[in-house]
Amino acid sequence: MKHIVVFASGDGSNFAALARYFESGRHGVTIDLLICDHQDAYVLTRAADFGIPSLTIDYHEFATKAAAEAYVLAQLPPCDLLVLAGFMRIVGPTLLAAFPDQIVNLHPALLPSFPGRNGIQDAYAYGVKVTGVTVHYVDAGIDSGRIIAQEPVRIQPEMSLAELVTAIHAVEHDLLPKTVADLLTKERIA
Ligand code: GAR
Repeated sequence: MKHIVVFASGDGSNFAALARYFESGRHGVTIDLLICDHQDAYVLTRAADFGIPSLTIDYHEFATKAAAEAYVLAQLPPCDLLVLAGFMRIVGPTLLAAFPDQIVNLHPALLPSFPGRNGIQDAYAYGVKVTGVTVHYVDAGIDSGRIIAQEPVRIQPEMSLAELVTAIHAVEHDLLPKTVADLLTKERIA
């Protein structure tokens, strides 16, 4: 059995997709903990509904990101992978050094296009005809780590932004759990 910890900041629909996919250790993976950086985030309710323990960390209570991450590290159970699923913070050197090539992030665009906080909106506003979803390793940059998996989403004529958001999320909910399972249970992608 492989063990993961999920980091999320908000609604947590991707956390729920992971929790469903890996429920009761299905696919050889179990979610041992949710780490959330907002005490009122809906993802905390979702974790409770799935019976998955959660920990809320108020980064503002720490003098530095390094101090906050040192605290996070001290709370982490032994695990094989950290999965950022809608976690809206840049990971610092403390966590990166502790988990080399063991932190993955979900991004709602086809990197290296449209990195940052608003990947869906930025792609829509630019007028691209194809956008999509990326799962990548986390490095010191912003959405710049090695790409593990991508899935395109075509922006149809007349498609509204809301419809694109729905389409992107549907692809995310499928791609992220499968990619995590592949990473942990098959040969590492070189
Ligand atoms: C997802 O679309 C994820 O790709 C995005 O936040 C959303 C979280 O949704 N992440 C980023 O933009 C990271 N740069 P969720 O809370 O419903 O899972």
